[in-house]
Amino acid sequence: MGDTLRIAIAGLGTVGGGLLKLLDGATPVGGGRLKAVAVSARDRHRRREADISQLQWFDDAVAMAREAEIDVFVELIGGSDGPAKAAVEAALKRGVHVVTANKALLAEHGLALATLAETTGAHILYEAAVAGGIPVIKALRDGLAGGNRVNAVSGILNGTCNYLLTEMESSGRPFADVLADAQRLGYAEADPTTDVGGFDAGHKIALLAAIAFGAPPDFAAVDIEGVDNVTLMDIRLAGKLGYRIKLIAKAERVDESVRVGVHPALVAFDHPLASVGSSLNAVVIDADPVGRLSFVGRGAGAGPTASAVAADLLDLLAGAARPPFGRPVADLVRQPPAARAEEGRFFLRILVHDKPGVIAAIAEQLAKAGVSIESFLQDPAEAGADVPIVLTTQRCPRGALDAAVRHIAALDVVAAPPRLMPIEDTRSGLRAWS
Ligand SMILES: NC(=O)c1ccc[n+]([C@@H]2O[C@H](COP(=O)([O-])OP(=O)(O)OC[C@H]3O[C@@H](n4cnc5c(N)ncnc54)[C@H](OP(=O)(O)O)[C@@H]3O)[C@@H](O)[C@H]2O)c1
Repeated sequence: MGDTLRIAIAGLGTVGGGLLKLLDGATPVGGGRLKAVAVSARDRHRRREADISQLQWFDDAVAMAREAEIDVFVELIGGSDGPAKAAVEAALKRGVHVVTANKALLAEHGLALATLAETTGAHILYEAAVAGGIPVIKALRDGLAGGNRVNAVSGILNGTCNYLLTEMESSGRPFADVLADAQRLGYAEADPTTDVGGFDAGHKIALLAAIAFGAPPDFAAVDIEGVDNVTLMDIRLAGKLGYRIKLIAKAERVDESVRVGVHPALVAFDHPLASVGSSLNAVVIDADPVGRLSFVGRGAGAGPTASAVAADLLDLLAGAARPPFGRPVADLVRQPPAARAEEGRFFLRILVHDKPGVIAAIAEQLAKAGVSIESFLQDPAEAGADVPIVLTTQRCPRGALDAAVRHIAALDVVAAPPRLMPIEDTRSGLRAWS
């Protein structure tokens, strides 16, 4: 590869702009041996973070991947298909290494791209794709490669959702208001579906699960629920019981299978993830023999994300790149997906007509299913025409609770479908990291 890495950058937006600035800085990254030589974006005349007039310009990112005299193609366009995918494939086909921040592309096409890369001897690196500036891929893929068995990876992987939930709690404003503000301030996309629907966190946890468990990424198997149905009422009531609601992404081994999901969940105020506020990300890895590792930091933004891209470029320069999912494609083992959590503690909120005997009727259904109540609250402060009853359960089988909730939902006194959320149990892997 020589002394200098010749780089083409496709996409000069938030991350691409941050990278241009980093490579153009007063203290050149890698002693100046990282050298942007070609760029592509939609609009040639848009003002960029650094002077690109001396770089070769391509209107077409795929043509740049095919034709530019480069060692590495940096894909910062985004999207699981379209030009990002076509350009990455074109680069890999000619043996050009790829660095990308694109979790959607790798979570959905990672196995095919890794296979293609192997056939031509190219590398794919994507540190910036998960948790932005937090070097969690390197930690999992390289740092834990020496004989560790990863049992679980979990955390807060979408800064937009974390910001929305934090703002709802602190300002007491409903989801739609807080989202509209976040869009105005540029913290949320005009079309927020990928973030608030949990899909972005789903892409990221699919990638972490692949590396952690030595499997191909399997986005289709991720059980995903977003934050769009989290109400202010639930946030307030959870708070009164000592919990905060977070969007938790989690991949864990369950016997010989793995369970990978994204769900709003309750964390106790003294739980380590409860204090990860605003747009921060957090990742917790549980492995043997290393034990628990935890990371908190900025999961997005030009600087943190570009720094992760630069770290990948330096690994290429040093010849230190490993296979994208930690092992050669032939050694990746597809893990059977486990069912939804069979057992745990849960938060149940039921909106009822305010009539005598309601609580007894609910308690009866739970008792019949063998579900014990841990704490209970009927909050008159939330009273409208109907009144919310909230309770947390003791550890119980999910199936039994689901059956009880179906019966509760059918009671005449119940005004709306009950809301059930898991409680992140400190016993299940995320005890305080002190
Ligand atoms: N933003 C973050 O903090 C962050 C963090 C982690 C990962 N990522 C990932 O990084 C990637 C880029 O995100 P971003 O936030 O930087 O996006 P962005 O600000 O929207 O920038 C996208 C860039 O791609 C260019 N582009 C669009 N279509 C193109 C095409 N057909 N050919 C060439 N260039 C094209 C755009 O050109 P114009 O500028 O001319 O319109 C723009 O420069 C995504 O995969 C994202 O998920 C972002």
